[in-house]
Amino acid sequence: MAIRKILNEKDSSLQTVCRPVTDFNERLWQLLDDMADTLHKADGVGLAAPQVGVLRRLFIMDLGDGVIEAINPELIDPQGVQEGTEGCLSCPGEWGITRRPMTVTLKAQDRNGKEFTLTGTELLARCICHENDHLDGILFKKHVIRMLEPDEI
Ligand code: NI
Repeated sequence: MAIRKILNEKDSSLQTVCRPVTDFNERLWQLLDDMADTLHKADGVGLAAPQVGVLRRLFIMDLGDGVIEAINPELIDPQGVQEGTEGCLSCPGEWGITRRPMTVTLKAQDRNGKEFTLTGTELLARCICHENDHLDGILFKKHVIRMLEPDEI
């Protein structure tokens, strides 16, 4: 396992539509393990592959209950609206109020290629949407209603 470098929003990797994962092999597992180390060291809740320079459709999340790995994710049936504070490991020091669905269902594959679904509300829904957006080159700022001022952070 290893810590990978988290790229800044200015990097072209953060503006790219990523390709699906096709090989569920040791190289993928190494990437996922490294991403978990990287996420924990950065004290974040989510990390998408393009943030470490890998242009493939996968992300991980850890909201404190262990790591969730989502490969080739799709979002289904967004419901309701929430507003809350959001930031991104690729945009250090910047926070904004975003508008997201209150509930969304994630359909994805696990590290062995097995399909699963997970319905998230509140913070989990926000995190699923944020990370999934990274796979299409979209940053949270697209969803920001208002960026926070330095004295609000
Ligand atoms: Ni992010």
